[in-house]
Amino acid sequence: MQMLRIVATLFVAIGFMTSSGSVQASDPIIVYNTQFHPTIARSGMVVSQETYASKAGREILQMGGNAVDAAVATGFALAVTHPQAGNLGGGGFMMIYLREEDRVIALDYREMAPAAAHRDMFLDEEGNVDNQRVRFTLKASGVPGTVMGLTKALEKYGTLPLDVVMAPAIRLAEEGFEMTWELNESLGRYAKRLKADPESAKNYFKPDGSLYEAGEVFRQPDLAHTLKIIAAKGAKGFYEGPVADKLVAAMKANGGIITHDDLKKYHSVERSPIEGSYRGFKVVTMPPPSSGGVHVVQMLNVLEGWDMKSLGHNSAGYIHRLTESMKYAYADRSKYLGDPDYFDVPVSALTSKDYAATIRAKINVNKATPSSEIAPAPSLPHESNDTTHFSVMDKAGNMVANTYTLNFTYGNGKSVPGAGFLLNNEMDDFSAKAGVPNAFGLLGGEANAIEPGKRPLSSMTPTFLFKDGKPLMATGSPGGSTIITVVFQAILNVMEFDMNVQAAVNAPRIHHQWYPDRLFMEPGHSIDTRRLLGEMGHNVKMGPTEAWDSVLGSAQSLMLTPSGYIMGAADPRRPGSYAAGF
Ligand code: DON
Repeated sequence: MQMLRIVATLFVAIGFMTSSGSVQASDPIIVYNTQFHPTIARSGMVVSQETYASKAGREILQMGGNAVDAAVATGFALAVTHPQAGNLGGGGFMMIYLREEDRVIALDYREMAPAAAHRDMFLDEEGNVDNQRVRFTLKASGVPGTVMGLTKALEKYGTLPLDVVMAPAIRLAEEGFEMTWELNESLGRYAKRLKADPESAKNYFKPDGSLYEAGEVFRQPDLAHTLKIIAAKGAKGFYEGPVADKLVAAMKANGGIITHDDLKKYHSVERSPIEGSYRGFKVVTMPPPSSGGVHVVQMLNVLEGWDMKSLGHNSAGYIHRLTESMKYAYADRSKYLGDPDYFDVPVSALTSKDYAATIRAKINVNKATPSSEIAPAPSLPHESNDTTHFSVMDKAGNMVANTYTLNFTYGNGKSVPGAGFLLNNEMDDFSAKAGVPNAFGLLGGEANAIEPGKRPLSSMTPTFLFKDGKPLMATGSPGGSTIITVVFQAILNVMEFDMNVQAAVNAPRIHHQWYPDRLFMEPGHSIDTRRLLGEMGHNVKMGPTEAWDSVLGSAQSLMLTPSGYIMGAADPRRPGSYAAGF
């Protein structure tokens, strides 16, 4: 009987998967893949959210390329095989660790606001934020940074020519690849948004409007053409010439504001990474305009003053302390974080152990403090739905942690005519109006107000861990506002509980972001723990919400073992994720 039940369940599951074209937008679909153990390799590893892209990176490592070569190959390949978030029309952050120099570079290739952007550009006549305009129009797009970021990284820190590392992406776009189940399912879910744009309809659906079914060859000729131009001309092939002309023409035709001049002026920036410490581990992570690094370190500093280990992993007492530290971090985020080129972000104060001690002193270890009683620190001590992350390590121990995005899944849904790629809707990451939450429920004000040339505040948190001077882990995640807490827990699991990278990635997560005052818990936490947290005053919530799925993040991570093996941990929360080692 039991056996029959299992077979019947499998049958239903398979039937559901093969008919995924009919999946409705409201269906919460959580498919855990079967890769529950880490992939172990000796010579190199690429872990990304999409199998073809991980293999593209591995192909470059196997040719003798270094981690940066492989990361750039993976980044361009994801733009082809994972258009939900892989992109040419978005932006992101790349952390690079150079083993020989023992140096970390934080490369910021976040989108920039166009010159014609202004503070109130998304307010309607009544002064309210027009969510349609800030999310689903061409005005929603910041000047894309990805092509500049990837080509700059390769130029400075790679070893192979651009056309060589872009070859797998070009091949995947030109010759096509077998439509994956997860892309088919995702395109089905977002069909309405994509089909509203004739160019996206043409790029991602058959001429009759139907979906490419899993296993059918899916080609993207316009994208292949654009990629070839970039491979031949480098960043200029995107920011000038025919691709730029197409992008600007699309803007002019449909109310967008990005100009040739904006594209020409786009630049990436190498920034000093944020460094923190936690019980002898070194945490090196992304600085502003990411808020992630600052707040991961801030929360770790708060926890360091308690004996977390003896509370037990994911016990109510443990989760309570994490949650309370999260509330204070997100409250500060709303006031103090923005683009450091425009706003003086008090990084040292926020990441100092002394400041963390003042937060710890305010936390009642038995009772939740309502968010309404928590505010951003009035002053600080004086200062002296898809993104995608991948991690790479090469034989020499160089690492890359890269998170990049279009903001929403498929960005604003609009493709540049004839150029084969989607545009971001990153302007929604600015604070369009002080005190009005963005799509991820995040609040902001002056620090993150819109200004020409400014980069919107991000939560993307590519992060490295080091122990005893040696690289230990690379991680990061998508998930909008939840990215910070996902990364926080992934590294905490390693530092506090000695978990291997796969266990650290798989363990159930929680999230709180101050507002809304809600403790979100993934499936996998015990009902006893949830009850205890409820009794402590937490507003516990499970299951899909407007902004998030039932799961939190997708932390494609890797770890170097003391014996010199590389463990790749594909996050099972996303079906296509894959650790490609050799
Ligand atoms: O930079 C940020 O924080 C957001 N644009 C990230 C969006 C995101 O992660 C969407 N997906 N899961």
